[in-house]
Amino acid sequence: MVGFLQQIEPLKQAALAEVQNATDLAALDKARIHYLGSHGKLTTLMKELGALSKEQKPTAGKAINTAKAELEAALGQRRSELELKDALPKEPIDFTLPGRRRALGKLHPLTQVTEEIVRSFRKIGFAVADGPEVEDEYHCFDALNTPADHPARDTQDTFYLQNPESRNQSPQSGLRPSTPQPQPLLLRTHTSSVQIHVMEKQQPPVRIIVPGRVYRRDNADATHNPTFQQVEGLYVDRNVTVGDLKGTVEFVFNELMGPETRIRFRPHYFSYTEPSFEIDFSSPLTRKMGKEWLEIAGCGMVHPAVFENVGYDPEVWSGWAFGFGIERIAMIRYGINDIRLFYENDLRFLKQF
Ligand code: DAH
Repeated sequence: MVGFLQQIEPLKQAALAEVQNATDLAALDKARIHYLGSHGKLTTLMKELGALSKEQKPTAGKAINTAKAELEAALGQRRSELELKDALPKEPIDFTLPGRRRALGKLHPLTQVTEEIVRSFRKIGFAVADGPEVEDEYHCFDALNTPADHPARDTQDTFYLQNPESRNQSPQSGLRPSTPQPQPLLLRTHTSSVQIHVMEKQQPPVRIIVPGRVYRRDNADATHNPTFQQVEGLYVDRNVTVGDLKGTVEFVFNELMGPETRIRFRPHYFSYTEPSFEIDFSSPLTRKMGKEWLEIAGCGMVHPAVFENVGYDPEVWSGWAFGFGIERIAMIRYGINDIRLFYENDLRFLKQF
């Protein structure tokens, strides 16, 4: 018994020393197995308890359990220390260095200009309307008084899509000629198609603007891109005049291009307006570009045929419409000479706005 008790203390001391000297987790595990594993030194000693007499067992058992608990506590403590050491950076770090800032994003310049245009029109009571970019021929052309053989269609060639309804139909089947043929689908060439959608859905008066993306089969160059943005305007009420149109356009362009802006109307042709005009404007910005007048928009009084197509009585209702490109406005305002810059997503360009 005395021999048994005497073995505990030195064994414990040796074990504690080995635990303290372990410099990594692998060495610590080795120490644990060395003493507490199934063939470990302390385990072996515990097994010898059984050979002691009934009177000796409680004292010896208590002593060895205390030693074991002490060893386990030391193992746990050392494990935490070594785990922390593992987690710490291997190289010295300067915690006083400033943190990395997350770069703040910005709205695209075209979005900024669009929002400004919308803000100006809202001041004079216009609401924003929206329409589909995948459009049918009827809304994009026919309803706007531009039938299939109209030369104006050639200048607005676009991308055609396969109509899901026509996919399984043979075009020459001719079984039921009275069945209305599904409309060919296309990417809209202008936001003017939304005029039709809105008038089909609501009765006059109408006072809307439509900012949105349009598509054309154009090759990209400094002034063309196969996709670009437009703003459409439509105003329908009783006794609307060209004077209302001119006043509205003047107000908005003064807001957008500065108080020194002047505008002028030139006679033009659009199939959905009569009379039709092109709008030129003049300002310090146009002079900076070496020109007194720059063409900026198309407009006119809504053609009676368009009103008839949407079920408005042209004898009662009158209105005007206009459309212009947002890129052109942005290019003039910011002095940008290539439209493609808006679509390249080069951060060096975009960060400037
Ligand atoms: N849709 C024309 C274009 O894309 C612009 C336009 C001209 C719109 C006259 C109008 C308008 O509403 O009345 O070139």
